[in-house]
Amino acid sequence: MAFAGTGKIWMNGSLVNWADAKIHIASHVIHYGSAVFEGERCYDTPKGSACFRLDAHTKRLYNSAKIYRMPIPLDQAAFNAAILDTIRANGFKACYIRPLVYRGYGEPGVSPLGSPVDVAILCWEWGAYLGPEALEKGVDVRVSSWRRAAPDTFPTQAKSSANYASSQLIKLEAVADGYAEGIALDVNGHVSEGSAQNLFLVRDGVLYTPPLYASVLPGITRDSVITIARDLGYEVREDIIQRETLYVADELFFVGTAAEVTPIRSVDRSVVGAGKCGPITRTIQRHFFEIVNGEIPDRHGWLTYLNPKGSGAEKTESEKPVGSRR
Ligand SMILES: Cc1ncc(COP(=O)(O)O)c(C=O)c1O
Repeated sequence: MAFAGTGKIWMNGSLVNWADAKIHIASHVIHYGSAVFEGERCYDTPKGSACFRLDAHTKRLYNSAKIYRMPIPLDQAAFNAAILDTIRANGFKACYIRPLVYRGYGEPGVSPLGSPVDVAILCWEWGAYLGPEALEKGVDVRVSSWRRAAPDTFPTQAKSSANYASSQLIKLEAVADGYAEGIALDVNGHVSEGSAQNLFLVRDGVLYTPPLYASVLPGITRDSVITIARDLGYEVREDIIQRETLYVADELFFVGTAAEVTPIRSVDRSVVGAGKCGPITRTIQRHFFEIVNGEIPDRHGWLTYLNPKGSGAEKTESEKPVGSRR
């Protein structure tokens, strides 16, 4: 069933009704996938609604746009303000946010240069991406027969819409075979990531995650989880993971803005650990939710409050002095 949508969408500086937020069928993005985007969340905390790692998401968006030579017609501070305005206009306490920068209606042909760079910001209420039960009990996944793009094909540092053709193939295959998700290998056969999640593995008390050169998106949740795990005293290694290590891992979990911290209980019908959320995964998951929900101090300045006045909100990442983050 089609998504009913919500109130307002920010389009090139104006707030328009969901039903009126339309683009022309001849727009470049429709034909050639010429868009970069973000996915971020705003959480309902005791001090009011707060976006999680707003600055980091906006920075990644601008980096993605730079890689694709798409000049965004406003600066990062104005972009952040537009995101906060859009959430306020919709009256959400908690929501998912989708900023999108795309090549609009201009000249036909593959070259995007004759098509304008347009900007939209959508938000909607979105619960657990893989379902609430997945957060609790974990998901069953397969290793995908589709590889992630080689480094000299589609840049994975850019969160480009075009990369999601690969994600769709991974997801479609997994669902067709009765799995919640797929884990893709990179061009060298090493573990890369899920269709829209980064991956962590636990073995003998140490956390491992594939390095950025294993064709993974530099996930903001991945970065947050590395920081949280180290804060909690765990060792974390960004290292190549061989496929067979998935089968002998003590624990496995996905991380991402949509998936948050989701345990994996089996891979290719082979049970991971005890076949349920492992103790280290649960500790990190709890800590992650305590931070995003504002239940413990925001020691890294990751929350940007919608209404900073009187929230007692700490500084955002960009306002913190250099070196204050791990
Ligand atoms: C391919 C891919 N990898 C990883 C992630 C996780 O990234 P983040 O934590 O920044 O949402 C996403 C989520 O958007 C994704 O689409």
